[in-house]
Amino acid sequence: MISSPSLTAPLTDPEHRAIRYLRLSITDRCNLRCLYCAPDGRVPRLAHDQILSYEEILRVVQVGVGLGIRKVRVTGGEPLVRKGVVDLLRRLVAIPEIEDVSLTTNGVLLESCAKAIFDAGVRRINVSLDSLNRQRYAHITGYDRFDRVWAGILRAHAMGFSPIKINVVAMRRINDDEIADFARLSMAYPFHIRFIEYMPIGNSRTTVQDQILTPEIQDRIRVLGELVPVEGQKNDGPARRFRISGAKGEVGFISALSQHFCDQCNRLRLTADGKLRACLLSDRYESLKEALRSGKGDAAVADVFRTAVQKKWAGHRLGADDTVPVTEFMQKIGG
Ligand code: 5AD
Ligand code: SF4
Repeated sequence: MISSPSLTAPLTDPEHRAIRYLRLSITDRCNLRCLYCAPDGRVPRLAHDQILSYEEILRVVQVGVGLGIRKVRVTGGEPLVRKGVVDLLRRLVAIPEIEDVSLTTNGVLLESCAKAIFDAGVRRINVSLDSLNRQRYAHITGYDRFDRVWAGILRAHAMGFSPIKINVVAMRRINDDEIADFARLSMAYPFHIRFIEYMPIGNSRTTVQDQILTPEIQDRIRVLGELVPVEGQKNDGPARRFRISGAKGEVGFISALSQHFCDQCNRLRLTADGKLRACLLSDRYESLKEALRSGKGDAAVADVFRTAVQKKWAGHRLGADDTVPVTEFMQKIGG
C-alpha cells in the first residue's frame, strides 16, 4: 500500500525548519505551585473528558512519526501525577522511529517512580529545582518537598539515568544567591545544571523585574572557574552548554530572552487538552482533539500538524516593544 503524501511528507515550516520534536503535556495538574508558574488564585482545571486519553496521545505521536517526529518529551503540569504514565513511557520507547523519549518532572514523586521509569526504557530526565535550601524551596513551590526531590534525584542517579538535567529558573532576589551553588553541583555530580531565563508569561506571581539574563548568570558562575564550551550534539535543545574546568557535569543556559534560538526551533507542543502549539511564546494553536474525535482518519490529524507548522512564527516577540502577551498558563503548556 502506498501511503498518502499528507501522512508521510516531512514537516517543514515556512522558515525551512524541519520539525522533529514533539513535547507532550499529559496533564495540567501539578503537586506544586511554583511562584513563576502558578497564579495567586486557583488555576481552572481541565475536566477529565477534555484531556486526551493515552490512546489519543499515542495516535498523535504515531501520525507525527510519519511526518518526521523523532523525539518526544513527556511533561505536565507534573506528569508523574497522572495514573498510567509509566505505561505511556514504555509505549513511546517501543515506537521504533522515536530516537529519544525523555521526561520533565518536578521530582516530588521521582524517588518512588525512578525504577519503573528506568525499566520502561527512559534514560533522560529533567528535574525542576530552583533552590537547594529547604525553606527557600518551600517558599518558591508552596510545599516543603525539597528533601523528597533531592532523594529522588539521588535515586535516579544511582539507577543510572544519564544525563540528569536540573532545570533552575534564575530569579533576582528569589534564588540568585544560589547560582554558584547550583553550578558547583556540576563539579560533584555528572548532572547538567541548566539555568533558564525566567519568561514572563501566563498569570504567575513573578514579573519581568525578577528576570536575570544569561550574561549575568554566567558572571556569577565564573568565580568557580573558566566556562569551557561543550560541543553541541544532535539532540541538544536550545541550551548553550559549558563545563567548568575539571567538572564531572555541565552547566547550560537557556536564553529565550537574551539570545533567542527561534531560528533553530524544531519543536511542537501538544497540550493536555489536545491543542497543538507551534511556539511556547504564542497563544496560537490548532485543535487536534476535534480531528481525533471526529471519526475522520489519520489524514485529518496530519492536516492539523501541517496547519500548525505552516503558521509557526519565525521568532517570538517577548521582550520586544510590540510584544503580544502569552496568556495561557505554563502549567497547561508544559514549558
Ligand atoms: N519561565 C521560565 N521557565 C519556566 N518554567 C516554568 N515556568 C517558567 C517561566 N515562566 C520551567 C520549569 C520547568 C520547565 C518545564 O519550565 O521550571 O523546569
Ligand atoms: Fe508545577 Fe512545574 Fe508549574 Fe512548578 S513549574 S507549579 S512544578 S508545573
